[in-house]
Amino acid sequence: MVERGRLLADRTDLRPRDRDHLRALIADWTLVADLAFADLVLWVPTWNQTGFTAVAQIRPATGPTAVPDDLVGRFVAKGRRSELDRAYASGKPVRRTAVATETASGGRPGTGKRKAADEAIPVSFQGRVIGVVARHAAARDGRRGALEEAYLRSADDLIDMIATGQFPLPEGLATTDAPPRVGDGLIRLDQKGTVTVASPNAISAFHRLGLAADLVGANLTATATRLSRTPGLVDEAVALVAGGRSPGSAQVENDDATVTLRSIPLRSGGEYLGALVLVRDVTDLRRQEKALLTKDSTIREIHHRVKNNLQTVAALLRLQARRIDEPAGRAALAEAVRRVGAIAVVHETLSQQEGEEADFDEVADRVIGLTRELAVDARVERVGSAGLLPTDVVTPLAMVIAELLSNAVQHGFPDSTRKPRVSLQLARNGRRLTVEVADNGAGLPPDFDPGVGNGLGLKIVKTLVTEELSGAVSWEPRRPAGTRVVIDVLLA
Ligand SMILES: Nc1ncnc2c1ncn2[C@@H]1O[C@H](COP(=O)(O)OP(=O)(O)OP(=O)(O)O)[C@@H](O)[C@H]1O
Ligand SMILES: [Mg+2]
Repeated sequence: MVERGRLLADRTDLRPRDRDHLRALIADWTLVADLAFADLVLWVPTWNQTGFTAVAQIRPATGPTAVPDDLVGRFVAKGRRSELDRAYASGKPVRRTAVATETASGGRPGTGKRKAADEAIPVSFQGRVIGVVARHAAARDGRRGALEEAYLRSADDLIDMIATGQFPLPEGLATTDAPPRVGDGLIRLDQKGTVTVASPNAISAFHRLGLAADLVGANLTATATRLSRTPGLVDEAVALVAGGRSPGSAQVENDDATVTLRSIPLRSGGEYLGALVLVRDVTDLRRQEKALLTKDSTIREIHHRVKNNLQTVAALLRLQARRIDEPAGRAALAEAVRRVGAIAVVHETLSQQEGEEADFDEVADRVIGLTRELAVDARVERVGSAGLLPTDVVTPLAMVIAELLSNAVQHGFPDSTRKPRVSLQLARNGRRLTVEVADNGAGLPPDFDPGVGNGLGLKIVKTLVTEELSGAVSWEPRRPAGTRVVIDVLLA
């Protein structure tokens, strides 16, 4: 839970460093609340030292709340809550005893609602007490289980660390996404790195990684490194974090699962007591992330680069064409520029599509645009519509159309007395797709035979239509003048 408003800055005269320490505590204290099954309230002395203001509050995710009221912003005067005063003055945790309960809440009628804390924990930082955490556990009946006892012991260890200025850890736990919650999974290690306690979710996470043996009693470093994807090649981070002695986080990953570990070394004074390791099964989360990545940014980025590369190739060819004086060579290079350009156009359109289909009309219009660049005074227009086509049809068909349109504007008008008029007709009838490119030019040469001849254009057209599209293509003269090319494709 985050400090609300500017309470820390406005109502206290704590140094900026002190405030940072308190904010770090608030960022990580979910762990303490969960382990203690208790609500925590952070009280800080007001600037004039007349009492305390509550600046933050957290409820346990592991049990019911004992503090249903929102206390943030409340003020208590000195003397009203003796446990806060005593913890603040002494720098030592103050636990509520039966007698203290009576004097704190029972003694004064009407103040019963403002219940004394079960424990008041001084927050120390750089040798000074800068605040007090009040711990309130909900009343409960029944005996505690072994796991609960272990949680409470761990909470006490962390609380001692708060009182001695060793918690929050300087690194912070809540560095990534959500704050760590005990419910995700918890392991307690002894000084040697052996698991002494493991919560059910922690055990499940390790089972998912493939652990068949008991987790309790195992050495966590050995277990985690063995389950990691690269056995033999010890992952330093995993070994370090699973050892418990150094705080930090690491990811244990193999083909079956991904589990994150975060260790919090527990110290009492200078003595190392062992560690808490938070365990979180993030397998599903990572899979979702990966799926999203592939679908979105990565693919988009690749498409973008391919398109840029194609444009670079076209620009290079164009430059080269300018340096060639010989007309035939120059024309050949200009053709190459057009072909690369057509591929770039198709590629760009396809990369902007979401699914397996692309709007072919849009592709066709862009190819027509390229042809107009080639012959400025030609009138080229699209008639009809092909609608959505599978992407594996779109690419070859666009290349075919680019060749046919280019032939129509180039070869139809040798004397250039007539204005070139070219139409691209698209028709869809169920699975059947018909494409027709017609011009009003001079017509095919008398010796024209699509089966022979060494023009690259016709080769491209025939290969793509018959091999890639399993369709048919034919050239025929048009009345009164010109050429018509008809393509027939049966869509899958
Ligand atoms: N629409 C058309 N009108 C008249 N002649 C055409 C038409 N389409 C093709 N031809 C003839 O067919 C020949 C072969 O065409 P093809 O596209 O294979 O080669 P090209 O256009 O000459 O050269 P490129 O390899 O650059 O395309 C052309 O040279 C031309 O004589
Ligand atoms: Mg050609």
